[in-house]
Amino acid sequence: MKKFRPIHYLPILLICFAITKAQTQETILIVEELLKKMTLDEKIGQLNLPGAGDVITGQAKNSNVAENIEAGRVGGLLNITSVEKIREVQKIAVEKSRLKIPLLFGLDVIHGYRTTFPIPLGLSTSWDMKLIEKTARMAATEASADGINWTFSPMVDISRDPRWGRVSEGSGEDVYLGSKIAKAMVRGYQGDDLTKSNTILSCVKHFALYGASEAGRDYNTVDMSRIRMYNEYLPPYKAAVEAGAGTVMASFNEIDGVPATGNKWLLTDLLRKQWGFEGFVVTDYTGINEMIEHGMGDLQMSSALALNAGVDMDMVGEGFLTTTKKSIEDGKIKMTQIDNAVRRILKAKYDLGLFDDPYKYCDVNRAKTEIFTNENRLFAREVASQSMVLLKNENQLLPLKRTGTIAVVGPLANTKENMAGTWSVATEQNRSIAFLEGIKNVAGDKVKILYAKGSNLTYDAELEKRATMFGKEINRDNRSDLELLNEALEIASEADVIVAAIGESAEFNGESSSRTNIEIPQVQKDLLKALLNTGKPVVLVLFTGRPLVLKEESKTVPAILNVWFPGSEAGLAISDVLFGDVNPSGKLTATFPQNVGQVPVFYNHKNTGRPLKNKEGKFEKFTSNYIDERNEPVYPFGYGLSYTTFNYDNLRVSSDIMNENDSIAVTVDVTNTGNYDGKEVVQLYIRDVVGTVTRPVKELKGFQKVALNKGETRPITFFISIEDLKFYNYDLDFVSEPGEFVIFVGTNSDDTHNTSFSLKME
Ligand code: BGC
Repeated sequence: MKKFRPIHYLPILLICFAITKAQTQETILIVEELLKKMTLDEKIGQLNLPGAGDVITGQAKNSNVAENIEAGRVGGLLNITSVEKIREVQKIAVEKSRLKIPLLFGLDVIHGYRTTFPIPLGLSTSWDMKLIEKTARMAATEASADGINWTFSPMVDISRDPRWGRVSEGSGEDVYLGSKIAKAMVRGYQGDDLTKSNTILSCVKHFALYGASEAGRDYNTVDMSRIRMYNEYLPPYKAAVEAGAGTVMASFNEIDGVPATGNKWLLTDLLRKQWGFEGFVVTDYTGINEMIEHGMGDLQMSSALALNAGVDMDMVGEGFLTTTKKSIEDGKIKMTQIDNAVRRILKAKYDLGLFDDPYKYCDVNRAKTEIFTNENRLFAREVASQSMVLLKNENQLLPLKRTGTIAVVGPLANTKENMAGTWSVATEQNRSIAFLEGIKNVAGDKVKILYAKGSNLTYDAELEKRATMFGKEINRDNRSDLELLNEALEIASEADVIVAAIGESAEFNGESSSRTNIEIPQVQKDLLKALLNTGKPVVLVLFTGRPLVLKEESKTVPAILNVWFPGSEAGLAISDVLFGDVNPSGKLTATFPQNVGQVPVFYNHKNTGRPLKNKEGKFEKFTSNYIDERNEPVYPFGYGLSYTTFNYDNLRVSSDIMNENDSIAVTVDVTNTGNYDGKEVVQLYIRDVVGTVTRPVKELKGFQKVALNKGETRPITFFISIEDLKFYNYDLDFVSEPGEFVIFVGTNSDDTHNTSFSLKME
């Protein structure tokens, strides 16, 4: 084989560099030329992003949108879908406005477009970066075929608080995994060439720290130390920026007492100066107007604050549109500030190729052939089955046999509306496969399936209504609770096994759906108890958008499969796993607490000066624990079972000393010791034993998802370099420090084999 000689590639690299440089200069020239021609009104117009569709999440909605586009008062539109409509609107911009500047069309394409994948929290539990990237790629292809050129995704907010409804939209509690997923999604949306007609701009959100709102209440105050920010919350945003995310969305919350939307340290010093971000910043929905309620002054003051802090585009609120001229007259804003914002927005449009062809995303044929195709649906089915987490499987109740009678019971069993989960505004809701339909399809003709709803979602009809948004039907059953229960018990009596499809509805989580009680709703708990009391085997198919309190169910129910909200092909994918056509391999990316009082509970916490040391978790006075509950959660980070079993053995390091410029290899032998072929997510954690600041008890630093046939043993090797040992110290320098490091390798964060090594530095 020929040796790789970098010198041979030098001319090619130089040519590529020259082309990129020439392109950049061309962009600058075109943008500058255009800027010279623009009036102040037209400049301000580019900073304006009105909403044009039906999805309204804030207090405001825009009017006169078409008129404003014609007058050059609009830079992009939010929430408009369908290629025909978008073509029409783009036409107004490029044929009727004076300077013919094309519009951006942004939408929340969060976990798929019409073909919908599992909610992001579910995607993360697949721990499969290629798969996740492909979901984003497919979402971009479908959205771009329908006219969309900008998605408000990925959402990379780390959260340790399952009360917060938006944990469903993120990737859980870990920065290392979260950063990998952030990169994979940006790559998926933007591809390697934004000028292609199937790649779209991504927008990393919500910058920053939105997932750390006090008490898990949405939009609430955030307050944390810089060192925690840098080590435990900021890395996924940074990773998305490094992956080239074209835009960043400012979050609703405050940081250090200044709302993110008006926070210059955040949007300019950190994002642009430290991280080198060159794209544009957009507010969240009416983020500027909300600064009035935060107490930052009136609309003019808030708009000036936002622009001076580094915001470029104003989503829906029209603060920039209506107050910027006055702020310039009053000397509150400088013209250069506006020019910079306009430059960034125009550059994004140029990078997308919209100046070459404003209709490049408006090909009606693509819309007919590339959206919700059989191929995409098949992929969605595969992804969904890869995201499911088997939490319990006593006496190998699962997989189900393809004989006998199965009673399917529960308010989530026969509902298409809830399968796609939250933030799926473009989903083909009526074509989603409900669980009942899926199980009938997959079970085969030797299985008899009976069905009863068993209960409504909640006892409280008002609460059920609140947990419904975006056109999802409530479908509340008017029969009494007792009638519903009795019907379920009747069919259960005829069954060999009961499958209970219960949990949260799609909008029980998501934006503005925080909960103080994160248990399964009481009426469904009562239904479950009654089903268990029949003495028949019960499988709980759990729908949820957040870690739930499952203390009771983890003890009483023999088998629990957590399916999240699986997307368009939900019913088929769940059944694939239930019958063992797919062996589950998902692993939790957020801790499941014992009760809400334990929250926040997360695996990578600090040790404290008085840690609880006994392994059984027994209470000890004057140590850091509770008198009424263990410290351990019900299910730890990284946890998830399979129909097979895996054994870990012979953990070894290539050297117990690591020098600054070396890396060491950590190897473990993993054997599939059960009766099924299966996939295992092998996880590696590290603890920095002594530091100049306190370090977490362990931190994820590597994982590999491996497929092992039954009986197969494979050595799995991780390489650790000094980069993996770095952290932000007291002065916020990113450093590694010499000394001992413990390595933990295992099947979840709590069940590991351990070894150690020392880092030597000059
Ligand atoms: C949400 C964002 C979303 C935006 C536009 C807001 O309410 O916080 O995540 O991208 O609406 O739909």
